[in-house]
Amino acid sequence: MYAIPFLDLPPLTGASGTVTLPGSKSISNRVLLLSALCEGTTVVHDLLDSDDTRVMLAALRQLGCGVDVQSSTVTITGLGGRAWPTEAIEFFMGNAGTAMRPLTAALAVHGGDFTLKGVQRMHERPIGDLVDALRELGCAIDYLGNEGYPPLRVRQPSMKLDKPIPVRGDVSSQFLTALLMALPLAALDRAITIEVVGELISKPYIEITLNLLARYGIAVERQGWERFVIPAGSRYQSPGTIHVEADASSASYFIALGAIAQGAGIRINGVGADSIQGDIRFVEAAQLMGAQVKSGPNWLEITRGAWPLKGITLDCNHIPDAAMTLAVMALYANGPTTLTNIASWRVKETDRIAAMATECRKLGANVEEGPDWIKVHPLATGRWKKTSIHTYDDHRVAMCFSLAAFNADAVPVRIEDPKCVAKTFPDYFETLFAVASADTAQIPVICIDGPTASGKGTLASRVAAQLGYHYLDSGALYRVTAHAALQAGLTLDANDEAKIAQLARTLPVRFDGEQVLLSNVDVTDAIRSEQGGMNASKVSVLPAVREALVDLQLSFRRLPGLLADGRDMGTVIFPKAPLKVFLTASAAQRAERRHKQLISKGFSANIERLRADLEARDARDTSRAVAPLKPARDALQLDNSQLSIEASVQQVLDWWQSRG
Ligand code: C5P
Repeated sequence: MYAIPFLDLPPLTGASGTVTLPGSKSISNRVLLLSALCEGTTVVHDLLDSDDTRVMLAALRQLGCGVDVQSSTVTITGLGGRAWPTEAIEFFMGNAGTAMRPLTAALAVHGGDFTLKGVQRMHERPIGDLVDALRELGCAIDYLGNEGYPPLRVRQPSMKLDKPIPVRGDVSSQFLTALLMALPLAALDRAITIEVVGELISKPYIEITLNLLARYGIAVERQGWERFVIPAGSRYQSPGTIHVEADASSASYFIALGAIAQGAGIRINGVGADSIQGDIRFVEAAQLMGAQVKSGPNWLEITRGAWPLKGITLDCNHIPDAAMTLAVMALYANGPTTLTNIASWRVKETDRIAAMATECRKLGANVEEGPDWIKVHPLATGRWKKTSIHTYDDHRVAMCFSLAAFNADAVPVRIEDPKCVAKTFPDYFETLFAVASADTAQIPVICIDGPTASGKGTLASRVAAQLGYHYLDSGALYRVTAHAALQAGLTLDANDEAKIAQLARTLPVRFDGEQVLLSNVDVTDAIRSEQGGMNASKVSVLPAVREALVDLQLSFRRLPGLLADGRDMGTVIFPKAPLKVFLTASAAQRAERRHKQLISKGFSANIERLRADLEARDARDTSRAVAPLKPARDALQLDNSQLSIEASVQQVLDWWQSRG
């Protein structure tokens, strides 16, 4: 992830393709527990792989559930209709709140001899309100450490179900969720009523719980948000197959993307219009603004409809998080957009009304705001301003404003602290860049050229990782070409130039992390040898071969940017790159580094011979007629003989930031 303080988005021109959003955490663990309480098997698709779900799966195995994990599809054989274990079991819950609370409730209502522990932090997270409610029901629960906190021991209950069970709603909605999921265990012969004490918070999460219970055959009667009745005779019934939905508020950015960007449309896998999450109603808001939406089980397809979008006035109480996305869509509308009933924005990660208003104004928009509303006026062509979006440590602000990069004025947008998206969507920008397009000339390229063993590869790949940019190791392309030529029985000189060029033009090469694959065969070690470098140097003097590799090298220039390392990146391949670095180190230094590298890999090496080889290679690279090794006229020289790699990386990042 980006270690940098900001991410520059080049002007984006369109978007099309498919995005697959990760499964929602809160849905994943609810589905696992409900599947475990059913009779028979449930196939759970798209389960999120996270600490919380692993803890839950381990606990279910301990209870005797069948658990079969095949990547993101998990088959659960439930405990319904079977005897639960009678021996004492100790569960380790780590720090997984979404596993601890509902499991505690289910174990306590069913009864047995169970101990639930976690990491130290888990033992500092209160659970007293849930335990109080469960004790009221007749559950036998003891605190093994501090009163009100895990660890807990659960015994056999003697249930008292005749009067309503009170549970506090103003601390954590997870307590109510836990009770709702567990109590059908006790509702075979009588209805059970839960009464919420205090104002219920996080209602959308309770809605998810109720929706999921319905899919598992439990039709809870909701009376306002104060009373919930589990009808007599309730029985968990497996839906057979269930898809864990992606987080619907994360989907809002891609729904908006489809509505804003030119292209063949955006398909979102992971959530459909029949979603059980309240935020899915963002789809209706997007449609009001002009988006065209198609939907099926677990997917959505969005294309641009009305353009410009239509300004709307909307009460957003039902979609508080996703509605922020509407504020940025409003910049592309034909009239003002007013979002009302959003007082909760003021008390989220940041004061979101103030944040959205401030940042939209920085882009040039006219924005009015009140205690619980915001009115955003559209931005006409010619009025967009280049600015740096402050993100207030709020993931949603960062994701929303990435959509401003589609502005008609082709103004780039800087997003500060881009890694704040990790709170809910660590790969947000990667996912966006995989479907967004930009004018190639606008995609930034940093070139790092220099002689053999100057450390270009390490420097370039580290800078790329810090910036979240792609990386082109052009030397590897020459090495692979030479390798392929030798395999084809060719000689590495002008006699076979045309044939080698032909091979290079359709080189089936693929990079996978550090690995280089040729026709899916790992050739990394073969091409990385000293001989591999010498062979590359031989084919690289052949003009037809160099020409044949141009298109392949250019194709690495993709969003959000490229670090290109080689000999002629700044002079021939990317002559207009905004930053070019020419990296050097003394021949003695380079020979010593290469020597250390080889020794550490277990190869024997002679430092004098290495130096002679390096100098021979430099001489050939520098003196060849086509694209000889030399600094571009506008390159910045960096002699790293005395610099650590960290210092070199920092120098390039400093140069890059001062260019930005
Ligand atoms: O950088 P590396 O050592 O992998 O490069 C191997 C050889 O490929 C170099 O010695 C050079 O002759 C050739 N090369 C080139 N142009 C590039 C990159 C590498 O001619 N852009």
